[in-house]
Amino acid sequence: MSTSTAAQTAEARHLLQVYGQLPLEATSAEGVYLHAGKRRIIDFYGGHAVAALGYAHPDLLAALEAEAKTMYFQSNAVALEVRAKAADALANLAPAGLSRVFFVNSGAEANENALRVACRATGRSRVLAIEHGFHGRTAAAAAVTWGAAKSWYGFPRTPFDVDFIPRDDSARASEMLNGETAAVIIELVQGLAGAYDLDEGFVRTVAEACRRTGALLIVDEVQSGVGRTGAPFAAHLYGVEPDMLTTAKALGGGFPCSALLMTDALAATLKTGDLGTTFGGGPMACALVSTVIHVIQRDLLMDNVRNLSAEIRKHAVTGPVEAVQGRGFLLGLRCRRPAKDIQAELLRRDILVGTSSDPNVVRLLPPLTLAKQHVAKLVSALCDIGH
Ligand SMILES: Cc1ncc(COP(=O)(O)O)c(C=O)c1O
Repeated sequence: MSTSTAAQTAEARHLLQVYGQLPLEATSAEGVYLHAGKRRIIDFYGGHAVAALGYAHPDLLAALEAEAKTMYFQSNAVALEVRAKAADALANLAPAGLSRVFFVNSGAEANENALRVACRATGRSRVLAIEHGFHGRTAAAAAVTWGAAKSWYGFPRTPFDVDFIPRDDSARASEMLNGETAAVIIELVQGLAGAYDLDEGFVRTVAEACRRTGALLIVDEVQSGVGRTGAPFAAHLYGVEPDMLTTAKALGGGFPCSALLMTDALAATLKTGDLGTTFGGGPMACALVSTVIHVIQRDLLMDNVRNLSAEIRKHAVTGPVEAVQGRGFLLGLRCRRPAKDIQAELLRRDILVGTSSDPNVVRLLPPLTLAKQHVAKLVSALCDIGH
């Protein structure tokens, strides 16, 4: 008997079959709920951490409609107030020193540009990344993604030399960084790896070694950025001052967009024509960036994230869960049993969670608008599942 949903069968007519999909036919969504027939499923996965304000948020819908009527699209060849406002909002939210913004369209594209800027600005050709990190699927971003070369990279060579620093190994980090290193790219909380939050001492060592050797520090906050950790960016929590920071997913609340932020010093190395994009910084995306940041601040959603994250930490070590890792609403539940099984059991109880590259870690990336009652439902479902 086939377990495919009707939508999966329809997709299979023409779409490449490159995704593992959930046995779930969602037809609409509102707040933190996905609707599947008569079922209302609490979305603790948030569409890969994108739905920061949940679904059908009135402010996002209003901003979409207003901007669509005002100017649906215009390229970077024309300066726009709406783009300037989005850049102001993002630069004000970002860690100190990151006052220059380049809007693009996806996490991988933001990282691709960051790595290009690093190689150009330093004139060096070796990049270090961290074991188990994920940075995207394009040529440069995938080159610094752990495990890609062995499984799906596919290009005959990488655009620069790459080495991976073992996670949390400060001694190796100090040895590996040298005058040939253009940059270190790092996810402070490794999302796909199961919301593994790197050791603060290790991160400090990497940052110091960057300063000592003239390598640039690129913090990838594609998944962790824009309030998800309970701070504007994980860099705030770790107290690091990156040379560049990339962010995406939550940034447009579901409208595709991403950004590369950098220091004035790095921005000064760039001139007209050095970087470019057609769609990046389009008015629709920019209207939503401003709205997402405004709503997060107005509704004190980072406080909500911190409070409910503490609740999850306190109560979710029950049933199959033996430990909780990560920060804010980028959390990993380490389970005694395979995460895939726990995901299926929770889905049967109308709770959607993610898995990760760690087979025993269930990943939680809920909307920042989640409420206490949703956490209670998760905890009671975990209890119900038992060991
Ligand atoms: C930390 C991190 N960097 C980069 C990416 C790539 O982003 P995108 O899929 O938008 O290209 C992802 C996507 O999951 C990510 O989690």
